[in-house]
Amino acid sequence: MMTEQTLILGANSGIAQAIAAKSLQQKSTCVTIVSRNSSAYQQLKKRHKNLNIINVENYSSTTMAKVAEQLTQQSSQPITRVYICHGILHNATVQPEKKLEDIAPDAFSAVMNANALTPMLWIKTLTPLLTGKTVCKLVVLSARVGSISDNRLGGWYSYRASKAALNMMLKNTAIEFARRAKNIKVIAFHPGTTDTDLSKPFQQNVPKGKLFTPEFVAKQLTSISDKALVDGQLSFVDWQAENISY
Ligand SMILES: NC(=O)c1ccc[n+]([C@@H]2O[C@H](COP(=O)([O-])OP(=O)(O)OC[C@H]3O[C@@H](n4cnc5c(N)ncnc54)[C@H](OP(=O)(O)O)[C@@H]3O)[C@@H](O)[C@H]2O)c1
Repeated sequence: MMTEQTLILGANSGIAQAIAAKSLQQKSTCVTIVSRNSSAYQQLKKRHKNLNIINVENYSSTTMAKVAEQLTQQSSQPITRVYICHGILHNATVQPEKKLEDIAPDAFSAVMNANALTPMLWIKTLTPLLTGKTVCKLVVLSARVGSISDNRLGGWYSYRASKAALNMMLKNTAIEFARRAKNIKVIAFHPGTTDTDLSKPFQQNVPKGKLFTPEFVAKQLTSISDKALVDGQLSFVDWQAENISY
């Protein structure tokens, strides 16, 4: 019998797909994924009745409100886990900056929007659905490069800034939830360099054994989130469950 629901947002991410596959192994959990491109889930859908797919065209506030409405109508199981997986490092129009001269307003806005604002708009929209008596683990994919104190190499101005901004807003969220949504634990997660489209152009510099599979990262992350205590604090942790300083 299905008694709980896992929600995966930005589900076309390589890491998100592995989290979905891992979560679907739990028979008590119904898994809902939201993405602009769910084609990677067609095979999984044939094998798993407990997979729900919500396709979206964009991540505007209006779209998110419609998703929240659909979630309210479609399922009676409480949402016990949320994984927010959005993140751009590069795309057709964005490249991570190597030097000051590379900073470009449109690229900066696109990265901030996808990496910092989109996760926060999801949290804002979904908070009424998550608040209650049932424990909920809210995990947002961040990155160690968002740590200001850990920044030794510089570069990647927009990506680093977007993850630092995300971490700050998640810290705010944890403080606010400690007052008004005491059942929700907020986790900012650094997966380590993982073999997905995001890291593809940068994998040649990764030391041997340090490029993780999405499946390994999903196993670590689900275990970390299952074990996390609801303590009113933001945990900023890596794939080994080690704390990262801001
Ligand atoms: N891979 C790594 O080595 C690594 C390392 C550190 C941190 N991370 C973080 O882990 C998370 C997942 O990364 P990944 O490697 O799995 O990435 P990925 O495979 O490249 O997936 C990209 C993700 O970003 C979303 N996205 C792309 N453009 C967007 C836009 N304009 N607006 C909103 N969302 C957009 C996609 O949503 P759709 O489902 O709608 O396409 C998808 O969720 C990201 O936050 C990333 O920063 C990854």
